[in-house]
Amino acid sequence: MTAADGPPRRVCLLTGAGGTLGRALTAAFADRYDVAAVVRTPRPQPERDTPRELFTIRSDLEAPGATDRVVELALARFGSVDLLVNAAAYSVWSPLVGSRALLDSLPRQLAVNLAVPVQLAAALAEASWRERGAENRARNRNVVNVSSIAGVRLFPSGGRSVYAASKAALNVVTAYLAEEFAEFGVRLNALAPDSFPRRVPTETVCDAVLRLDESASTGTVVVVDAEGERVADILPG
Ligand SMILES: NC(=O)c1ccc[n+]([C@@H]2O[C@H](COP(=O)([O-])OP(=O)(O)OC[C@H]3O[C@@H](n4cnc5c(N)ncnc54)[C@H](OP(=O)(O)O)[C@@H]3O)[C@@H](O)[C@H]2O)c1
Repeated sequence: MTAADGPPRRVCLLTGAGGTLGRALTAAFADRYDVAAVVRTPRPQPERDTPRELFTIRSDLEAPGATDRVVELALARFGSVDLLVNAAAYSVWSPLVGSRALLDSLPRQLAVNLAVPVQLAAALAEASWRERGAENRARNRNVVNVSSIAGVRLFPSGGRSVYAASKAALNVVTAYLAEEFAEFGVRLNALAPDSFPRRVPTETVCDAVLRLDESASTGTVVVVDAEGERVADILPG
């Protein structure tokens, strides 16, 4: 590599790539990352915001075997993954009583918001990371689970009970898995933004993802709201 080549490109596996944050992150990644972008519904990305290597994987992540298949495809294309960003989400806000909407949505909210991020981390660990501790540390490999401030503090419900619980569970599982993944040099953190772009610019959330990727942090839940960025307490130690 010559100095003109700049720092080596990183490989990101990104879910929810067709959503508000996913599209902004794909653009933010364009200069320095190759991206395996998981979309359920493909939408064109503006050319100027397209990474040099953008590999789109169309997948319904709730389907049986989908998370293993996504990891297999990403590794076949890029050989390794430096950053996993779990940004896909499913949310239904409804009262529990007087409607079936919340009960009927419960399995899918827990599947997409909790099970899928855990399954993807497990699939990457099994297929690639667990035997490569030195390489993982050298490449500062990590997982960013996009959670929500709703999983950190209580708001007037607005029907968000199950969504908030799925994100609180994601925060806790992130903190526990950080200890396990430290054995082979992979970091995990959760990012808990306030509403974007309404209360926080989407670019600020993207910057927080990039900062977590560059950091040495692990096992943290980082809140991003109008007051800035801070590490939240999730469970008393
Ligand atoms: N926006 C906010 O105010 C806010 C605040 C706090 C936290 N968050 C969190 O930030 C993350 C990104 O939010 P966002 O606003 O960008 O969400 P979004 O625009 O709704 O995008 C979420 C994406 O997840 C994908 N997805 C859902 N179910 C899927 C499945 N079964 N298989 C594959 N993909 C699936 C959706 O694909 P389709 O387009 O095909 O449905 C969608 O593109 C989420 O984790 C969210 O919970 C958002």
